[in-house]
Amino acid sequence: DEYEYIELPRSFEMNAGCARVSAQHTKFPEGFIFGVATAAHQIEGAWNVSGKGENVWDRFTHTQPEMVADLTNGDVAVDSYNRYLEDVEALEYLGVDFYRLSLSWARILPNGRIDEINPDGLRYYHALLDALAEKNIKPLVTLFHWDLPQKLQDLGGWANPELVDYFYDYSDLCFREFGDKIKSWITFNEPYEICEDAYGDILKAPGLNSHGVGNYLCSNTLLKAHAEAYHLYDQIYRPKQGGNIMISINSIWYEPSDPNNEEQVTLAETANQFKFGWFAHPIFTEEGGYPAQMVENVARQSEMEGLARSRLQQFNDYWIQRIKGTSDYLGINHYTTFLVTGPGVDPTAKSPSWLKDIGAVTTMEVGGDSASTWLRVYPSGFANLLRWCKRNYNDPIIFITENGFSDRGTLEDYGRISYYNDYLSEILNVIYNDDVNVIGYTAWTLMDNFEWRAGFSERFGFYYVNITDPNLPRTPKLSVEYFKQLIANRELPQ
Ligand code: NOJ
Repeated sequence: DEYEYIELPRSFEMNAGCARVSAQHTKFPEGFIFGVATAAHQIEGAWNVSGKGENVWDRFTHTQPEMVADLTNGDVAVDSYNRYLEDVEALEYLGVDFYRLSLSWARILPNGRIDEINPDGLRYYHALLDALAEKNIKPLVTLFHWDLPQKLQDLGGWANPELVDYFYDYSDLCFREFGDKIKSWITFNEPYEICEDAYGDILKAPGLNSHGVGNYLCSNTLLKAHAEAYHLYDQIYRPKQGGNIMISINSIWYEPSDPNNEEQVTLAETANQFKFGWFAHPIFTEEGGYPAQMVENVARQSEMEGLARSRLQQFNDYWIQRIKGTSDYLGINHYTTFLVTGPGVDPTAKSPSWLKDIGAVTTMEVGGDSASTWLRVYPSGFANLLRWCKRNYNDPIIFITENGFSDRGTLEDYGRISYYNDYLSEILNVIYNDDVNVIGYTAWTLMDNFEWRAGFSERFGFYYVNITDPNLPRTPKLSVEYFKQLIANRELPQ
């Protein structure tokens, strides 16, 4: 990693290096909370020590190392398994209200099964939770952030309906074991990425690339597993423990590049229903089930392929009812917007099965650049997404569970500061101007970490991690001072 150490200014001031949108509102409402997020596989390392079992990302990166841009993996990651106290210090310095972390299923249950519990796994999370409690940082905990125990993948992973029961057992154990310390839960992080990228494509582990089949089998299992975990918490644990539970749905917001072009408007709406509605519609609408645009498109496409039935299997009435209403808040991960230019096959398309079913849509890149292949800076898209969620999902309580910006790794990260500033101003705009009920904000991420197939080539952290130094020191970037001030004042810097 090419990287220059620079002196940081003593006190941070917004400087001319940061482009600003003019904020109409600057003060966050009373009670609005701020935090930062990480995920177990991206930070913990210790992949095969203290009884942890193998997960799908261990298998994927070990058997196909070339799938990761810089050939890194999660074996050591940023070693948070051993350095969690440093992480807690970094959190304390930022002054966050909460820390969003995830539990590694295979660290707790090495084979994914409830009858073989790893006591060291439980001890690790208790120690981390206790260290957070000491600093009065509330944990917001994700049960599943992509690292399925390999033994369960060997059974077919999320394409196998039995995973509903395996996830139930795992959730039950976590609620029982940690429920006194954890009052806010997330069942699944980004179900779209889990199902589409890993079962419909090769973008995420296990990369099964089953074009329009496995992705839908996965979503059926995942939504049922989510609902069962919700009901378990709601009926058995919530009455004793208090607390809340939600799902975090990823969004890429699709907008017509020309708002007066009807074809583009329809395509963008269909794209949003496929991307976001796929998981939000069954949980957050009165009607329940998959969105009509999806049902119709996949049915039409399946028929064209000569199939007797749609590849997208419908939920029966029991499951429609069982899944509806199973999230206390609408958790949203948001990063970027794509502008829809028209129908047709985009040669740079990264999700073949999804595009096949949607009838193909071309997009163009918008806004400012980041280090990433997919992240473009377009803050007003966030406001449009939030307004769309208010309309489509009956004015839900919204919790932003991720938002952030990547670069190649610099301490003077002005790009990140303006990204946060501009996206947060859009949140304030919709809160005050459109009455959208957003109650919390989570920045991705505490420190640079294993960014899946981008490895360490894309860095989203507030703290820089030099991975060539065996001590993996966490060095604050300029954005640390920005975010720290913002939290302390509950206000965008003037
Ligand atoms: C989504 C994921 O939840 C997280 O794991 C990932 O690192 C960030 N977005 C950035 O791509």
